[in-house]
Amino acid sequence: MDSDEEGEEYLFKVVIIGDSAVGKSNLLSRYARNEFNLHSKATIGVEFQTQSMEIDGKEVKAQIWDTAGQERFRAVTSAYYRGAVGALVVYDISRRTTFESVERWLEELKTHSDTTVARMLVGNKCDLENIRDVSVEEGKSLAEAEGLFFMETSALDATNVQNAFEIVIKEIY
Ligand code: GTP
Ligand code: MG
Repeated sequence: MDSDEEGEEYLFKVVIIGDSAVGKSNLLSRYARNEFNLHSKATIGVEFQTQSMEIDGKEVKAQIWDTAGQERFRAVTSAYYRGAVGALVVYDISRRTTFESVERWLEELKTHSDTTVARMLVGNKCDLENIRDVSVEEGKSLAEAEGLFFMETSALDATNVQNAFEIVIKEIY
C-alpha cells in the first residue's frame, strides 16, 4: 500500500492469473476502458492499467496487472507477484481444463506472494451457457474450500466485471 502526502490516496496492486484465453485481458479492458475484443491476441509479457474508485469518500487506485497465461510468453514470475495484495484467479466456464488449472495458479500465487492476498475465483464467459463445462456449484465449492470469493463474469456482456474487481479492492481496503 502506498499513500500520498495527505494520506488520502491509496494504491493497491492486483494481479490477474489463469490459463491462456480464459479472458484475463478482456476482463481488464472491460473494467478499465469498457472495451471488449473478440479477436484479442495472447498477451506477451506484462501489461497493467490503473483504475480509480471511491470507497468511503476516499479515492482508491488499483494497479491491475495482466500477464500471459502461456508459460513461454510470461515474464519473471516473482516480479509479477511482488507486492500484490489482490488477485483474480480466472477460468473459462466452457473449458474444464482451465478450471482444473486453478489449484496450480493458487499454488503459484502462494509461493510468490509476500503478504496476505484478497483472492477472487472468477468463472468467466458465463454468456456461453449453451456450452457450459463447469457448473456454478463446482466453482462455488472450490472457492469455499480454498477460502476465496467467487463470481461468474462475462467480459463480453459485462456481467459482474466491475463487481469482481471492486469486491477484491474493497476487501484489501
Ligand atoms: P492470454 O493472454 O493468452 O493469457 O489470454 P487471456 O486470458 O488474456 O484471454 P483474452 O482476454 O485474450 O481472451 C481470449 C478469447 O476469449 C478472445 O477471443 C476473447 O474475445 C474471448 N473472451 C474473453 N472473455 C470472454 C467472455 O466473457 N465471453 C466470451 N464469449 N468470450 C470471451
Ligand atoms: Mg491476455
